[in-house]
Amino acid sequence: WPFHAPYVKAILDLKAERNAVLLAHNYMTPEIYHCVADFVGDSLQLAKEAAKSTADVIVQGGVHFMAETSKILSPDKTVLIPDAHAGCSLASSLTGADIRLLRERFPGLPIVAYVNTSADVKAEVDICCTSANAVEVVESFGVPRVIMVPDEYLARYVATRTDVKIIAWKGHCEVHERFTGDELRRYREADPSIQIIAHPECPPDVIAAADFTGSTAKMIDWAKGAAAGSRVVMVTECSMADNVAAEAPQVEFVRPCNLCPHMKRITLPKILDVLLDMSGEVVVDPAIAARARRSVERMIALKN
Ligand code: 13P
Ligand code: SF4
Repeated sequence: WPFHAPYVKAILDLKAERNAVLLAHNYMTPEIYHCVADFVGDSLQLAKEAAKSTADVIVQGGVHFMAETSKILSPDKTVLIPDAHAGCSLASSLTGADIRLLRERFPGLPIVAYVNTSADVKAEVDICCTSANAVEVVESFGVPRVIMVPDEYLARYVATRTDVKIIAWKGHCEVHERFTGDELRRYREADPSIQIIAHPECPPDVIAAADFTGSTAKMIDWAKGAAAGSRVVMVTECSMADNVAAEAPQVEFVRPCNLCPHMKRITLPKILDVLLDMSGEVVVDPAIAARARRSVERMIALKN
C-alpha cells in the first residue's frame, strides 16, 4: 500500500518516541491491523492486553467503549482514541439509570453487561462479559436466572448453550442485525460444501444457519484451522475477511460484507494526529472507573 507508507512510518516512529502501544480490534482496516498495530484481538484479548501493558500511552484502534475499558483498567496511562465519535449501537442502547431500574424490577438477580457498554453501565452491573466468555460468565453465579444487557441476540445465543435462564435487554448491533438466514441458505444452495461462521451478535436464524459461532478471535482461529481449498462465509464486519485472508491463505473467503461505520472512523491519518499532539484523550470519572473496574476485573479473573 504505497499510499499508506508515509503514515505507517510516522506512526511507528511516534509510537516509539512516546512509549505508546496501538491496541487494534479485529475490525480495523488491513493497513492498521497489519502495519501499525502492536496487538490485535477481540474485545476480551484487548481488555487483557490493556490491563498488562507497560506502555505510557495506549492508542485504541477501536470504538469508544473499548478505549474506556482500557482507561478503566489502566487509570494511570494516557488512553487516546483517534475519533471520539466512534460509538456502537449496543453501547448507546442503555445507560446506568436503566440498570438501576432493572435492579428495582428484578431485585437480587445478577446483571451481566456485555463489554459493548459505557463505563457508566459497567459501574452499575455485577460483571462484564464478551462474546468469547459469555456462557462462563453467566454460569459463574451458580444461580438459575440472570439479566444480560444490552445485546438481545448474544443473550439468546448464550441461552442455547446453558441451563441458566436469561432475561435480555433489546439492544442490537446495527452491523450484525442486517444479516439474514435466507441470505446464508442461498450460499449453501449454491455450494453445499461451503462453511459458514458467524458472530454471536447475529440474529438467531443466522446463527442457526451457521456451522460455527464465536467471537472475532475465535472466528479467526477457526478460519486459520480450516482445510486447504475450503470456501468460508465470514458473517461479520467487512474487515475481518480482509485481515484474516493474509493469515489463512488456504481459504477462499466469501464476504457478505456489512461495514461498521464506527470502526471505520479510525484511520491512519487520525492515528497519526492523536500521536502528534496527544489529543483524543479518553477521560473516565475516577469514581465511576473504580466501580466499573470491579466488573471488568471480575470477568478477567475467570478462567477464559
Ligand atoms: P468481539 O469481542 O468478538 O471482538 O466483538 C466485538 C464487537 O464489537 C463485535 O461487533
Ligand atoms: Fe458496535 Fe456492532 Fe460496530 Fe461492534 S460492529 S462496534 S457491536 S456497532
